[in-house]
Amino acid sequence: MLLSFSLNLSKPMNTKYTGQSANRVDGPLKVTGKAKYAAEFEAEGLLYGYIINSAIAKGEIASIDSSEALKLEGVIKVFTHEEVSGLAWFNIKYKDMDSPAGNPFRPLHDNKILYSMQPIGLVIAESFELARYAASLVKVLYDQEEHVTNLQDNLQLSKEAPMGKIGYVQPKDRGDAEKAYGQSEHKIQGEYVHAAEHHNPLEMFATTAIWEGKNKITLYDKTQGVSNVQTYISNVFGLKMKNVRVISPFVGGGFGSGLRPQYQVFMATLAALELERPVKVVMTRQQMFSFGHRPGTVQRVAMSADANGKLTSIQHGAWGETSKYEDYTEIVVNWSGTMYNCENVKLKYELVKLDVATPTDMRAPGAVTSAHAFESAIDEMAYEVKIDPLEFRKINYAEDDQVEGKPYSSKELRKCYEEGAKKFGWENRPIEPGTMREGNQLIGWGMANGAWDALQMPAKAGATLTSDGKLTVSSGTSDIGTGTYTIMTQIAAETLGMDLDDVTFKLGDTNMPMAPLEGGSWTAASVGSAVKAVCEEIKERLFEMASDTESTSLSGAHKSELHIDQGYISLKSNPAARIAVTELMRVAGATGISETAASGPDPAAKKTHSFNSHAAVFAEVKVDIDLGTVIVSRVVCAVAAGKILNPKTAGSQILGSVVWGISKALEEETVMDNNFGRFMNHSLAEYHVAVNKDINDIDIIFVEEHDDLVNPLGIKGVGEIGIIAVAPAIANAVFHATGVRVRDLPITMDKVLQIAVEDRNQVKV
Ligand code: MOS
Repeated sequence: MLLSFSLNLSKPMNTKYTGQSANRVDGPLKVTGKAKYAAEFEAEGLLYGYIINSAIAKGEIASIDSSEALKLEGVIKVFTHEEVSGLAWFNIKYKDMDSPAGNPFRPLHDNKILYSMQPIGLVIAESFELARYAASLVKVLYDQEEHVTNLQDNLQLSKEAPMGKIGYVQPKDRGDAEKAYGQSEHKIQGEYVHAAEHHNPLEMFATTAIWEGKNKITLYDKTQGVSNVQTYISNVFGLKMKNVRVISPFVGGGFGSGLRPQYQVFMATLAALELERPVKVVMTRQQMFSFGHRPGTVQRVAMSADANGKLTSIQHGAWGETSKYEDYTEIVVNWSGTMYNCENVKLKYELVKLDVATPTDMRAPGAVTSAHAFESAIDEMAYEVKIDPLEFRKINYAEDDQVEGKPYSSKELRKCYEEGAKKFGWENRPIEPGTMREGNQLIGWGMANGAWDALQMPAKAGATLTSDGKLTVSSGTSDIGTGTYTIMTQIAAETLGMDLDDVTFKLGDTNMPMAPLEGGSWTAASVGSAVKAVCEEIKERLFEMASDTESTSLSGAHKSELHIDQGYISLKSNPAARIAVTELMRVAGATGISETAASGPDPAAKKTHSFNSHAAVFAEVKVDIDLGTVIVSRVVCAVAAGKILNPKTAGSQILGSVVWGISKALEEETVMDNNFGRFMNHSLAEYHVAVNKDINDIDIIFVEEHDDLVNPLGIKGVGEIGIIAVAPAIANAVFHATGVRVRDLPITMDKVLQIAVEDRNQVKV
């Protein structure tokens, strides 16, 4: 395995920390096991919960008999809907910050079964193993009803997706796509399908709930947003916000699965409040498949072009699955209206309600789904007009946001094309498929591109500088492995001219200034802006102190004349006139300076510009002509995402995204057994993900992209942009290798082999 980073940042760095690679500040805590995750907090008298899940997909619980379980010594209680349905909080507002339209699932609310593996009971015992064993003794009888879980067979049940979820915008049409399609000489169409996928973070969902007295609780929870959990739990249980404290210092991966509070936090809180004891509830790996997934989606794309390769029409329809109780939406087809210059666009996005858990956001939700279909279709169109797929994209390049009619604040996708193609060696690509071969391996080169939102959300941060010259900055955000701890430390250190070692960044506590959910790739821009703002406030206070403190060399100086670096405040005009920050605070008699600050997006900029990050992905595959196996031998991912705060942590984000993209293209799918209405492969043994053996060369390029408009830091975020175009680039490479198109993800050997046999004669070898 060879992984390499090539960073192309041609301008010299004029900054000390931001823009420079730095190791993770939380790395030592993680590798020594000192970083504590939600399930690792202890309390005296701690009880353990084990969740019972429904065996059927639809119907009612006829009876639950817990008597055998309760006979065991050490089993304290079994909570079921019968036990808790009388509690007052069942009529209270139940939404969370990421709720789509509909009524969120209420664990233990009544005897209704809405989906297979729905939580229906909680056994509390003195140990986890005992609770788990006791759960096996609880007898549940059901009145089963017929369920509907097959998306592809039920597209006729679809309805237009409603508004309701934060960030969801309904797609807009323009021109007359059907007419243009009808009149075009060159046209293609296809149907593209992918099954449900699950996030599978390393850390299972877990909550350690500490009962703090009547109506008061502290929750150590696995979440991508402590504030969201606080709001949800206080809503659900009718507790005052200040009496619900949520703490989440470390998260072992989220990928969107932790944006919404999951049912274990409800269960742990319920038990702790009712039993007035601390309670820990941890999901099993199997249960990690029981609360939300990337929705299985069927897509149809039709497009046409003239003989010069100019797109004349785009039609893109998508049918996503959702639950019976909520309308989960994501932005799928809208991207097809913005990616390319085209006058006639028709888009449609509908939902099919099934007896499944509500799907949930998963890394680049919607965009990754869209790109699979749309970027494959673009490839098909390019072959139809016999133009190189990269050239075809350049011919149809959109300078401006085609939907909003606004320019992008920056869009260096062309640079991604150029630098990515050069690194990959794209210019040597034969245009005909099936023309490169090494022994039994057919070799193919494919590419695709993608875009993601560059968003900023309101956020707050606090900071305290103590007289020993140490700075502590805090914000109630989270670090789901993205590097938040590290980049916030860098921003703070840079703003106050300090060493990284003298700065401590803290996060993941509702007692800290409020931050948005960590998601949407917006944390760097959002929390980073708040951290910068609060450090500017501290700087301002220091400069005032320098000016106001008598008998220093800076007395009376205006703040505009002052400079701070390496622990000293000095006169810009005369760097020799300086005082150490620690000395200044001592002389001024200050033990510490504390500030808080808020930041948010600039509404004026939003009116005039659109903000996206972009990426181009180039992939090489080797397809075994006899076995149908696909090996992704090389990937080059070129990213334009504004200023890169820390190429090392940002590079890891893109690297992880590319690995996941390979996994998505070739391996990942959660298979629904429609007879049972249940996901069959709910374990890491049977839900396949890419492992070391599947990963070969990956090259990451951050192209230079300067952006003053997106936010003052010029950041676009990198958590999601890397994955979007990977699967279509691989699918396109498989076509280039074999001359046949697999439109159904994942591209498993059975599909390839079937095609290879059917089409062997088509392949020129
Ligand atoms: Mo991401 S799917 O916004 O955690």
